[in-house]
Amino acid sequence: MKFFIDTADMALLTKCADTGLVDGVTTNPTLIRQSGRNIHEVIGEICALVDGPISAEVAAMDFEGMKSEGLALSKIHPNVTVKLPMTWDGLKACRFFSDKGIKTNVTLCFSVNQAVLAAKAGATFVSPFIGRLDDQVSDGMDLIHDIVEAYVAIDAQTNILGASVRTPLHVKQCAMAGIQAITIPPALFLKLIEHPLTKAGLDTFAADWASTGQKIA
Ligand code: G3P
Repeated sequence: MKFFIDTADMALLTKCADTGLVDGVTTNPTLIRQSGRNIHEVIGEICALVDGPISAEVAAMDFEGMKSEGLALSKIHPNVTVKLPMTWDGLKACRFFSDKGIKTNVTLCFSVNQAVLAAKAGATFVSPFIGRLDDQVSDGMDLIHDIVEAYVAIDAQTNILGASVRTPLHVKQCAMAGIQAITIPPALFLKLIEHPLTKAGLDTFAADWASTGQKIA
């Protein structure tokens, strides 16, 4: 499973990228606003830092607007993945960019039918929002399992990119569902390594080793 980081914060992204385990980055208008940065500048910096798909989202609501914004974003770097909303215009734009060989990510997916439409439009990624479904007292992971099943049934080539991932349990469940990728906030990514028994075990090993007085190298 690929790990994408859902952020436009360069300091936090750098911390995550330093692990060597970051496969891509996703952004959205909210994250760009939070960064306080110009979208062209920050996407350029992200592309220079992480070698993988970098999702940059259009703001236009109509096909022509999405086309010109997506083309402008895709000129920043070949890794830019044009992120498009789950609307008819968004799917039309998705087909336009897919036909041009430009990677796409259809976002705000909340149903299997929407995911099937994204696959038909040739999306590289579809982003089902797990946490936002949980917020509505509807199990977001049910949607992931259903899309996995539907995509196998119709032999879809689109990658499922689990989004709105909020907890370590979501991460585990996405991995067990076998989806291709997830996008997660930096703090959650950095937390995934933690386990109290790992820490306790390391503390013991360090103390025992020190008492041997040996050196390995
Ligand atoms: O980038 C889209 C998604 O990951 C947003 O997550 O937590 O705002 O629902 P959240």
